[in-house]
Amino acid sequence: YPIFAQQNYENPREATGRIVCANCHLAKKTVDLEAPQSVLPDTVFEAIVKIPYDTWIKQVLANGKKGGLNVGAVLILPEGFELAPSNRIPTEVKNKLGKLSFQTYRPGKKNIVVVGPVPGKLYNEIVFPVLSPDPGTNKEAHFSKYPIYVGGNRGRGQIYPDGSKSNNTVYTASATGRIERVVRKEGKGGYEIIIEESSGGRKAIDVVPPGPELIVSEGEFVKADQPLTNNPNIGGFGQGEVEIVLQDPRRVQGLLAFFASVVLAQIFLVLKKKQFEKVQLAEMNF
Ligand code: HEM
Repeated sequence: YPIFAQQNYENPREATGRIVCANCHLAKKTVDLEAPQSVLPDTVFEAIVKIPYDTWIKQVLANGKKGGLNVGAVLILPEGFELAPSNRIPTEVKNKLGKLSFQTYRPGKKNIVVVGPVPGKLYNEIVFPVLSPDPGTNKEAHFSKYPIYVGGNRGRGQIYPDGSKSNNTVYTASATGRIERVVRKEGKGGYEIIIEESSGGRKAIDVVPPGPELIVSEGEFVKADQPLTNNPNIGGFGQGEVEIVLQDPRRVQGLLAFFASVVLAQIFLVLKKKQFEKVQLAEMNF
């Protein structure tokens, strides 16, 4: 959950560029970010995060039963950019937002926004309404080109913040030996796998929670770290980035003025040529 990232990491993007969700959501899947190539100061625009997956498939839930996937995302905007306040968001954009509730990653970090978990069926495309800063009034902001980073996830993670495994991952043998017994646990489900270690005959007990399916059976010989179960995870995390230019309107105006001057110069050159041709004709006539 984004809250796990907020509680455990000061900054959601590590020095290596990796977004921290990946530390617990181990499978890699794609995400896509769409944003305008350039924006003017103090303007609201949409950053659209797409988290594609087959919405009809189901994953294992914490209780071992099957259910739909949820999605979540973190958007790391350039310094000075922030979530647009609701009175600045045009109605047509508001309609696209649905009932999403966005949060800043940290009280002081308005430029980092998280959302989720929300049902993936409804929100495999999430629209973030973003407000660009105005370098005229905000001295921290500058007209320049910036990266926007996104991390998006569908499905449950593999590791809890305390380091323990969730039931949405593969379970492996803790020792090399023969599987003496597989005990199916009553009630909640899951298994206890008792391995008679090859070295010394001690017994190792591996507990598999409800969710993953066993792929070994009694009497089989297993090596340490060999998978005892399938990998039930069908979700995954992905990250991406796009670049955005905070554009100075005066530069655009300047460019337009330059174009206009070029057009005028061309027209005057043609007129001059016409005039010169007339003179040439007149000179040839006697
Ligand atoms: C569940 C997103 C960071 C561990 C989820 C879910 C979402 C999500 C959407 C619900 C999935 C579902 O129900 O189908 C994110 C995002 C993160 C992030 C966007 C980064 C901003 C983390 C971190 C950890 C973590 C850092 C580990 C410390 C988990 C676990 C679950 C989960 C274990 C399953 C919880 C359960 O159902 O018992 N996450 N997550 N996540 N996340 Fe994350």
